[in-house]
Amino acid sequence: MKVLCVEDDKWDSDLIKREMAKNAPDVAVEFACSLQEARKYLEEAALPDVVLADLFLADGTAFDLLKDIRTGGIPVAVVVLTGYGDEGTVVSVLKAGADDYLPKRPGFEKLLPQTLERAFYRFDRERALHRHPLRVLYVEHDPRDIELTRRYLKDFAPHIILDVVTSGADALERLPESPEEPCLWDVFLLDYRLPGEDTLELLREIRHKRGLDLPVVMITGRGDEELAAQLLRMGATDYMVKNVDYFNRLPPLIENAYHQASASREKAAYKESENRYKSLFEGLLQCLGKITEIRDPYTSGHQLRVADLAVAIAQKMGLDANTIEGIRAAGSLHDIGKLSIPADILTKPAKLTDLEYNLVKLHPQTGYEILKDIRFPWPLPEVVYQHHEKLDGSGYPRGLKGKEILLESRILAVADVVEAMASFRPYRPSLDLQEVFREIRSGAATKYDPNVVNACIEVFEEGYRFK
Ligand SMILES: [Fe+2]
Ligand SMILES: [Fe+2]
Repeated sequence: MKVLCVEDDKWDSDLIKREMAKNAPDVAVEFACSLQEARKYLEEAALPDVVLADLFLADGTAFDLLKDIRTGGIPVAVVVLTGYGDEGTVVSVLKAGADDYLPKRPGFEKLLPQTLERAFYRFDRERALHRHPLRVLYVEHDPRDIELTRRYLKDFAPHIILDVVTSGADALERLPESPEEPCLWDVFLLDYRLPGEDTLELLREIRHKRGLDLPVVMITGRGDEELAAQLLRMGATDYMVKNVDYFNRLPPLIENAYHQASASREKAAYKESENRYKSLFEGLLQCLGKITEIRDPYTSGHQLRVADLAVAIAQKMGLDANTIEGIRAAGSLHDIGKLSIPADILTKPAKLTDLEYNLVKLHPQTGYEILKDIRFPWPLPEVVYQHHEKLDGSGYPRGLKGKEILLESRILAVADVVEAMASFRPYRPSLDLQEVFREIRSGAATKYDPNVVNACIEVFEEGYRFK
């Protein structure tokens, strides 16, 4: 146990130091001689188990310190040294959250060791009562062990509720048959050495046959480290050697196993909801893309093919996974702004007039306007805005140049033109790949980013084809 004594009277400090050294040598006592020093200690040093504070200090009172400790949720017991015969103060001190008090009458120091220890256990027990109750199914055949464990937990960890069975068969009968059935217990505590029983088989049944994720804590004998490793490999959550410190370590071990299992369940649930969100998001993107293409059957599938090729180019260029994901998303709806263009212009089987072409040229900006208020994890609206910009500034709508254009847009621009040229259009047949490469090579450095062009050609040379 560690105690912080807050006392500004040198004579009393020395008295406390001497008494504790003599009658409670296991208790480490540190001293602060003012409220300010005590506050600093509680903020910066490892927390004590108990704070022993004199009621009146030069720069405040024990009430100030109590208020800091209780409102700040600092987990320490507090004992206040009060004035002699002042019952009113005692009531106020206890109401303010002190765990105990000790009137400073002559010889008070003799009562200190037991008062501090009592306060510590009272505080600890109180805290345990407020912990989340844990139901533990405990398999143990030895009635003495059962009784000792029950008694210890009742006194020191009353939030752990034991249900005891004396054989593995009894335990299996009570446990659910499958993960879908409700389980009454938070932790399964199992003595490895049940006479006449194959405990490993019991563990295998729980984990592998029934698929239960109930945390399993095994109790083993001394020197069974190899066995412990085997148990962990087979799915035990933790193990504990039954030695002299066994009871003290049991509650934290059970809590730990429970929290570990809860954390991995939460992680799995988070992963599942993340996957659901991802597939919903991808579905929505595709839905938006399809809406655009319904009005223009000739370019049906264009956006998805562009997205797919842009991803292949981005992978070839070694971009990171998140940027690539953003490129796929932007590609799959880059022409969404075409929703505002009359369908007869989109499907016109002849060359567009200047007026019509000017209308078509509005689609990157319209796309940007549609998307700009959605909080994408990528600069997606801007990528869509820039997908018709050219390196030499001859693109539209803003005539951006070189590095002013986002890399994602430079990749989309190449994928877009390659897909469009390689596909049939009402006003021209599809071009073969060599012609397409000639065209983008001749535009490299003027219209298109040469690195993107090279990556695109390499991708096709390695066998990429549109789906
Ligand atoms: Fe476009
Ligand atoms: Fe396009």
